[in-house]
Amino acid sequence: MFHNKIPIFALQFKNFSKMGVLKRIKIKDVLDSGAVGSEVLIKGWVRFFRNNRFIVINDGSSINNIQAVADESVINAELIKKITVGASVAVTGKLVESQGSGQSVEIIASHVEVIGVADPEKYPLQPKKHSLEFLREIAHLRFRTNIFGAVTRVRHAMIFAVHEFFTKKGFVNIHTPIVTGSDCEGAGEMFRVSTLDAKNPPLKEDGSIDYSKDFFGRETNLTVSGQLEGELAALAMSDIYTFGPTFRAENSNTARHLAEFWMIEPEMAFYELTDNMDLAEEFLKYLLNYALENCIEDLQFLSKRQQEEEKNKPQDQRSMELIEKIKFVIDNDFARITYTEAIEILANSKPAKKNQFQYPIKGFGTDLQSEHERFLVEKHFKRPVILTDYPKEIKAFYMKQNQDGKTVRAMDILFPGIGEIVGGSQREESLEKLENRMKELNLPVDEMWWYMDTRRFGSVPHSGFGLGFERLMLFISGMGNIRDVIPFPRTPKNAEF
Ligand code: 4AD
Ligand code: MG
Repeated sequence: MFHNKIPIFALQFKNFSKMGVLKRIKIKDVLDSGAVGSEVLIKGWVRFFRNNRFIVINDGSSINNIQAVADESVINAELIKKITVGASVAVTGKLVESQGSGQSVEIIASHVEVIGVADPEKYPLQPKKHSLEFLREIAHLRFRTNIFGAVTRVRHAMIFAVHEFFTKKGFVNIHTPIVTGSDCEGAGEMFRVSTLDAKNPPLKEDGSIDYSKDFFGRETNLTVSGQLEGELAALAMSDIYTFGPTFRAENSNTARHLAEFWMIEPEMAFYELTDNMDLAEEFLKYLLNYALENCIEDLQFLSKRQQEEEKNKPQDQRSMELIEKIKFVIDNDFARITYTEAIEILANSKPAKKNQFQYPIKGFGTDLQSEHERFLVEKHFKRPVILTDYPKEIKAFYMKQNQDGKTVRAMDILFPGIGEIVGGSQREESLEKLENRMKELNLPVDEMWWYMDTRRFGSVPHSGFGLGFERLMLFISGMGNIRDVIPFPRTPKNAEF
């Protein structure tokens, strides 16, 4: 899709002309080629069928459809009945400059075949505006909508760009385990993985479940993060990253939380917090830039969608136009302040003074809520913000402790409209300090012997962060609900499809 577009296309054309047999070409390639006069074969799904003559087809390769014009000599009454919205078709014909407005080229069909019919009485997707909520109920078909097609293509581009960014920088991709025996990340409630008979589990003498009889001989869960294993790799390979699914059984039914989401977690040896912030900022800007350079048609479509949706909102609640917003983030340095400074700004803010925050700011130690994060980003700094040096009580055990004894070398990156998009830190490299903190928190130091070993043998300063992939997708696509940027969302009470 992104590489050697023209050579691949040229090759396809050459191939079919040489062998005298037409090969199917993706609609995007046909449109990009402008190869007027060529015979083409396209396959896809009918989006519209007008006047028993104009078949508008999309195959998912582009937001743009192609129109085929078919005369009675090509489609008889029998066939016309079968060409309905959602049916799959193969069309052969000559590519010509389009007569109508809205498209540059169209196909004068010489042959039309219906591959699979779609009963118009039953097909749920009609060519009209469906609500996003309705589309979630037919997640198996929503790939066929413009919105979801665009989101899906941008999502793919971002996956590719993640790997490209880190590969260019000499990072090594690590697959960390999905089933894990460690539960002390502290990032959230975990889903248990077990093959024990739920109705009749083996019990220990004290009546508790005997997990030594379970599949792995111990209690296991789905991972909440690949970080701890990532650290093991970084302390040998220097720079690594993971990009995998993570699972959190929190019952938070919000527009920004999923129970199953994808996270990118780089981990770097010899990096201190500032290096970590620099990398995260460069990384985010790289991804946004990549989207602008490679997905502009989809972004333009998504931008229009967002503006339509926001028409009904009062002026001051509308967000910046999507592409303008992406460029704005690329062009501006992220603000960098400490948690303590943020609390001061928030305590002196208008909403705090007017008691407008749902969760009041109670000085140092207050866990920031998304309303606070969004105030800092959208109202105060008006650009992304990196908050550092949080109170140790509200952050994970592994974060490097500051001299003040109160704060840790944490960093959260906050984005407009999203709140927290990245969470990370410098890690505590001192065995003694790490052990003491774990004991304070009643964490099983002995069970974590493998993690402690990295501090025991050749420990070094190191840092890392996690980027929530769907939070990034929310920002780039301008969609308002995280359920609409992942193909099959997993949220409380929802795991169909
Ligand atoms: O801040 P979190 O919990 O950090 C970690 O898991 C660290 N182990 C990362 C690291 O340092 N390697 O999660 C990281 C990011 C958040 O900033 C957010 O973008 C996203 O993951 N995230 C979620 N996204 C969707 N649904 C959820 N329930 C999420 N929880 C976190
Ligand atoms: Mg976090």
